[in-house]
Amino acid sequence: MAEGSHAGTTEPVLVIIPTYNERENLTPLLQRLHDALPDVHVLVVDDGSPDGTGELADKVAASDDRVHVLHRTEKAGLGAAYIAGFHWGLARDYRTLVEMDADGSHAPEDLPRLLAALDESDLVIGSRYVPGGALVNWPKRREMLSRGANIYSRLALGVPVNDMTAGFRAYRAQVLSALPLDEIASAGYCFQIDLTLRTAEAGFDIVEVPITFTEREVGTSKMNGSIVGEAMLRVAQWGLHRRLGQVRRLVTRR
Ligand code: GDD
Ligand code: MN
Repeated sequence: MAEGSHAGTTEPVLVIIPTYNERENLTPLLQRLHDALPDVHVLVVDDGSPDGTGELADKVAASDDRVHVLHRTEKAGLGAAYIAGFHWGLARDYRTLVEMDADGSHAPEDLPRLLAALDESDLVIGSRYVPGGALVNWPKRREMLSRGANIYSRLALGVPVNDMTAGFRAYRAQVLSALPLDEIASAGYCFQIDLTLRTAEAGFDIVEVPITFTEREVGTSKMNGSIVGEAMLRVAQWGLHRRLGQVRRLVTRR
């Protein structure tokens, strides 16, 4: 079996990379990715980056058949970008769809381990918060926010995943086909929590493999207060909904 293709399939793996102002980061990342896994295909989902990331991606795609670009007209959030990317990949029969940031925080060299773990699972999460996972150069404040978000989510939702907001993942296509992608309204980074919860509730197997997350050296994070606010509100709503469901089942003894 060629590296990068998933067990029992001929279709290569699709790595979806959402971009907003990542011009400096894109080419080095694609180079690293194809050095590590020459057979994987890439879909860059650009939200009309003012810095020209979309045009740069087009240039790369013009001379590399493995690279594709999806242009969206406005910055509509990480969640919307991934959903558009999933539709694109499912329509082309990719059996494995990967999520990865454009800024080098997720090491492409870790991807073979994620893909190997997918043989035994339906969703593999590259996790910072399991033994062996690590953070490099993340400001203490950002680490506290991320760890806090994960503790809060785990308590509210009762899903036994340590890194629910992680953005480096490999999904089997069958998981994404089974989920109601068009109903997913999470715009920001809580999209990751949303999908983890839906995957678990649908009964799929989730496994976490340790990764080292290294803070970007170039460009800026798109994280902001409204992304945090959306996550806190939505997780509280989902948590309440799940708990009410449990109470209802107790009362009706089902
Ligand atoms: N197309 C598109 N549209 N891409 C976006 C948008 C958007 O609205 N917002 C962010 N991105 C892209 C960035 O260009 C980058 O490739 C990736 O999404 C991650 O964005 P960052 O801004 O670098 O995220 P971060 O480093 O602060 O956050 C990391 O940690 C989060 C919390 O754990 C990421 O790993 C997130 O995925 C994760 O949820
Ligand atoms: Mn980042």
